[in-house]
Amino acid sequence: MTIQTILKMGDERLLRMSEPVTQFDTPELHALLQDLRDTMQAANGAGIAAPQIGVNLQVVIFGSGKVNPRYPQYEPIPPTVLINPTITVLDETEEEGWEGCLSVPGMRGVVPRPRKVRYQGFDEKGQTIDRVVEGFHARVVQHECDHLWGKLFPMRIRDFSRFGYIEVLFPEIRDS
Ligand code: NI
Repeated sequence: MTIQTILKMGDERLLRMSEPVTQFDTPELHALLQDLRDTMQAANGAGIAAPQIGVNLQVVIFGSGKVNPRYPQYEPIPPTVLINPTITVLDETEEEGWEGCLSVPGMRGVVPRPRKVRYQGFDEKGQTIDRVVEGFHARVVQHECDHLWGKLFPMRIRDFSRFGYIEVLFPEIRDS
């Protein structure tokens, strides 16, 4: 079990375009995924992207199959490994939702995002993933994939009157 240090906003490694994975089902890829799982679980993350632990590859994981204590109001998302993803917006209608990020600890902000998307990519074995999702699931996958293009959620905020500290905005939520 290796809990890695999560890079924080301001670190330029979070601003890079990440590279596609070229070989699946390798020991290196499985080790990366285990580090991502351990790091995400230790921080109660809804998801995590490889660039957040300094690995510049198009690898994200999200979901636990359980309600997340940092986002208790949302439905569970199945545990997912998503590699070399593409996202296609199916409904451009934007929904607003509060987001946080392990790289922006202690803060939340309202981010508008398309409500319904299709995501495609591969799992760690190289098997195709192709899903149509909406709601919190759509938000999480867009947030995690943004990390692969060097975008953090504060860059998506339009109304900074709804951006602040969790302890003030949501005193009932205990952030890690
Ligand atoms: Ni994030």
